[in-house]
Parts: sequence; structure tokens; C-alpha cells
Amino acid sequence: MKSHSKLFMNMQKRTIVSLPGDGIGRVVLEETIRVLENAGFNADYVEGDIGWEFWKHEGNPLPERTIQLLEQHKISLFGAITSKPKDAAASELDPSLHEKGLVYSSPIVGLRQHFNLDVCIRPCRTYKGNPLNFIRRGQGNSIEEPEIDVAIFRQNTEGLYGGVEWSNPPEIVYKGLATHPKFIKNFGDVPVEELSISTRIFTKKATERILRAAFEYASKFGYKSVTVCEKPNVIRETSGMMYKMAQEIQAADFSGIELWNTNIDAQMMWLTKNPENYGVIVAGNMFGDIVSDGFAGLIGGLGFACSANLGKEVAVFEPTHGSAPKYADYPVSIVNPIAMMESACLMLDHIGETEIAKRIRSSISKVILDGKVRTYDMMKLTGSADVINHGAASTMQMTDAIIENL
Ligand code: NAI
Ligand code: MG
Repeated sequence: MKSHSKLFMNMQKRTIVSLPGDGIGRVVLEETIRVLENAGFNADYVEGDIGWEFWKHEGNPLPERTIQLLEQHKISLFGAITSKPKDAAASELDPSLHEKGLVYSSPIVGLRQHFNLDVCIRPCRTYKGNPLNFIRRGQGNSIEEPEIDVAIFRQNTEGLYGGVEWSNPPEIVYKGLATHPKFIKNFGDVPVEELSISTRIFTKKATERILRAAFEYASKFGYKSVTVCEKPNVIRETSGMMYKMAQEIQAADFSGIELWNTNIDAQMMWLTKNPENYGVIVAGNMFGDIVSDGFAGLIGGLGFACSANLGKEVAVFEPTHGSAPKYADYPVSIVNPIAMMESACLMLDHIGETEIAKRIRSSISKVILDGKVRTYDMMKLTGSADVINHGAASTMQMTDAIIENL
């Protein structure tokens, strides 16, 4: 321990904004911080308010003071939040706020937009010995367990999530659409009040950012290919622009990395056929969301799916799962903390603490391979408070095992 503290004394002490949020967000984040501390990461944590409680009592799930904390400290670990549909959200508001015309919107989407966290990375790597690993039939009916090591780069701020949409669009929009011959041909006889339109807007700037991030990552971590996973033969303007720009960037700056092109639908069909063939995959917002959930399913699902949201200055690291409210109030927490811990490793990589990230990942690997400590999802049990009596490890026991193996 002595030599450790000496070693770390010289390192700059970081301040990390911890955003536990709702439900199981708090327990997975607290356990992750316990691992970070035991792994020798030298940091202070300041907690930021985010989520349902702040919606209910203040009418804002992402208070301005939380934005300021992020502006100040730049790096954040985020647990999960609870979101509910508009009407349910309005009915849970504190009565004193009812008349203010407040409308709920997701604070994580808000964070991504406010800080322009436009690059989302979702790595999916197989841990040897994970009983949730995907297996398939090979030649002669043999059983194969392909080793997957894919990093999905998802454009995080535009496309179908840009929010530019209408039902019964205003006249000026209708007139604009009517200048397109395909609109007249395919929709010209539809009454305007029967039209719902969601736009898919790609900008060159954001498209170049996500493509370059994907190529740089491939080059830094030794992946041989970058696959653009879109649908350029049908969605010609947006997907087409992304693929064309990828060709230009690859030719100019990354000729050592192969550029592949798949269609999102075919990619999902091939998901179980040859997932081990892919390295870095890059896509727009919606297809990136779809393909990353697909790959996450092959490596263990929500208990293992981690992500990074990177802007030019601010970065937020979070598991893909939500607040799992049904498990939030168990006397002993049963959820798998690994997705949050993997997200913290992405944070460590991002700020240059790659050795600590390596130590944590290799400890997680050992615990999984060893197979003695497994959360309920790894035991394929249905989640309930009773899983502990059936041999499942609690969230804390899983964390303890990971700390012991550091
Ligand atoms: P969820 O991800 O919270 O839970 C779905 C199911 O996945 C759970 O019932 C549980 O069986 C399993 N699960 C999730 N995390 C797990 C873990 N760490 N270990 C083991 N099993 C785990 O999604 P759900 O139930 O659709 O949504 C619950 C709430 O979370 C909603 O209010 C939703 O809006 C919100 N949500 C928030 C997200 C975020 O904060 N980024 C993302 C997804 C949902
Ligand atoms: Mg998703």
C-alpha cells in the first residue's frame, strides 16, 4: 500500500462528477467508485442531482446546478434515470408546479444535446467463461463460441433523434415538401392532418466527427476494419453522405484500415453468423442504437453493456441499462454492476489512465472465468429478491470479488 500511495501522490487528482440518478443507478455507481478507489484511481467525486426526484419536486430532471458541475469538472459517471411518458410525468409533479406548463424531457438526452456529446462508443467484448456468451452450431453440428471484440460508434445527437418532427405539419413545411417530386407522387393525395413526419438530418460536421473518431479508435487499438452500417442504397442522401465521407477519410488518412460497408438489415441477419469478423462499426443515431443493442445481446446483455458519450470538452460514461425500478428497493441489491464498471474503464481510457482500466478489466475477466461469483443474470435466474437464496451473488459480493482480484 505504501508504495502505491507514493506512486499516486505525484499524479494529478481528478474530480469526477457522479450522477447516480434513479433506481439501481445509485448502487451500481457506488460499487463502481469502490472498485476505482481500490484500483488506485486518485479522484474526488462530487455528486450531481439528476432524475425523477428533481422532476417531481423542482420540475426539472436536469437542474442548472448539475450542468454547472459538468461545465466545471468535464468528466462524469452516470448511473441511470427513470423516464415516464408525458402524462404520467405531469401527474407526478408536485402540486405547486402543476400550473407552470412544464413538460418532461429525458435528462440524459438533455445532457447529450447541451454539451454536444455527439460521439457515442459502445464496445462489446466477450468475456471468456461468461455463461451468457452467444454460441452457435458450426460444421458437423459442433458448438462454437465466437470471440467478439466490436466497438460501435453511434452518432449521438442528430438523425432520427434530432427532434425535428411534426404531425399535421404547418403549411410552410407542407409546401416545402411538395417541391419534391417523390412527395407529390407518393403522398400528394394524403390530407395534411393525416401526415406525421420525422426527419433524419445528418450534418457534414457531425458525420465527419463520428467517422474520424471511429477510424482513430481502430488505429489506436489495432482493429483492421471500420464498417459503415447504414443503408446507402435506399436512404441515399444521409446514409449515402456518410459512406462517401468514410471513403474519403479512409483514402486520405487511414489507408492501413479496411473500410467495409453493410446494410443495417443485413448486419442484423449476420449478427449471429459471423460477429467475430467485425472490428469498429460506425453508424448514425438510430442504426447505431439498434446494432449496438444487437451486439450487446451476444456478450451478456444489459449487465455488460457499457457506453461513453464524448463531446469536445465534456464526457459522460454510463451503462446502457436503465434504472430497473423493480429491483431498486430490494434489501440486498441483486443487479450486475459490471456494465457500470466497464463504463468507468472507458472513462479511464479517455483520460489516459489506461493501466488502471486494464487492471480493472483483467480483474473482471478473472472473476467471470473463475465462475464462482455470478449475479442472477449470469445464472439465468428470473430476477427477484429470492435469487440470493439460489446462489446468486449480490451486487456487493460481485464488487468484492472484483476488488479481491485487482
Ligand atoms: P432497464 O434497463 O432499467 O431494465 C430492463 C431489465 O433489464 C430489468 O428488468 C432487468 O431484468 C435487466 N437489467 C437492467 N439492468 C441490469 C443490471 N445491471 N443487471 C442485471 N439485470 C439488469 O429498462 P426498463 O425496465 O425498460 O426501464 C426502466 C426505467 O429506466 C424506465 O423509466 C426507462 O425510461 C429508464 N431507462 C433509462 C435509461 C438511462 O438512464 N440511460 C436507459 C433505459 C431505460
Ligand atoms: Mg437502446
